[in-house]
Amino acid sequence: MNDLQDVFWRTVLTRRSIRRYQPEPVPENLIRRLLTAAIWAPSAHNRQPWRFAVVTTEARKAALAEAMAERWLEDMTRAGVPAREIRARLQRSRQRLTEPPLLVVGCMTMRDMDVYADPRLTEAERTMAMQSLVLALGNLMLAAHHEGLSSCWMCAPLFAPDEVRTALELPNDWEPQAIITLGWPNESRTSFRKPLEEVVLWK
Ligand SMILES: Cc1cc2nc3c(=O)[nH]c(=O)nc-3n(C[C@H](O)[C@H](O)[C@H](O)COP(=O)(O)O)c2cc1C
Repeated sequence: MNDLQDVFWRTVLTRRSIRRYQPEPVPENLIRRLLTAAIWAPSAHNRQPWRFAVVTTEARKAALAEAMAERWLEDMTRAGVPAREIRARLQRSRQRLTEPPLLVVGCMTMRDMDVYADPRLTEAERTMAMQSLVLALGNLMLAAHHEGLSSCWMCAPLFAPDEVRTALELPNDWEPQAIITLGWPNESRTSFRKPLEEVVLWK
């Protein structure tokens, strides 16, 4: 059996980041399967510091896109990006957030993590929470691909966490880290990886 015939390897090697989607909604039982894959990721001290906001309605998607666009507009204006370029980027970003039938906003929470007086240890604990969330979202993206859906990670919430929390009325301790766009694909993509020789040291 070659690698691509094996279901695990096919899932890992053929997942691609997809940015255009068909409009068909994703059924709730399928969304629950993806979230189940997410919560079975390993986590620091098994504290499971991940939280997920599932966004499926047009109104919430639009509110989310609008809230982040306002913040991004300010940032780009301050950075001196030309007005026409700003308009184009904002329009693309809005389309990226409103076209997919499903958005999963990945958040971390420090609620159950250890508390330290030492800032160095506090930072390490925050990193562990973030690493745990990232593993969960990786599981979710692979599960989505396994189920025939496509996905893409969007880092935009990192730049506007308060706006995302407000637009989605999230609890105060939820820290938005990423949006995973999901749905059935309306494009195909290829990708590449650096060879192992470039990224691995054998000791
Ligand atoms: C932490 C992280 C942040 C990313 N942010 C974005 C993003 O904001 N917009 C986007 O279009 N893709 C984003 N991506 C997707 C990457 O561009 C994509 O994974 C990479 O180009 C490799 O393509 P592939 O996933 O199809 O193999 C992000 C991926 C990761 C892991």
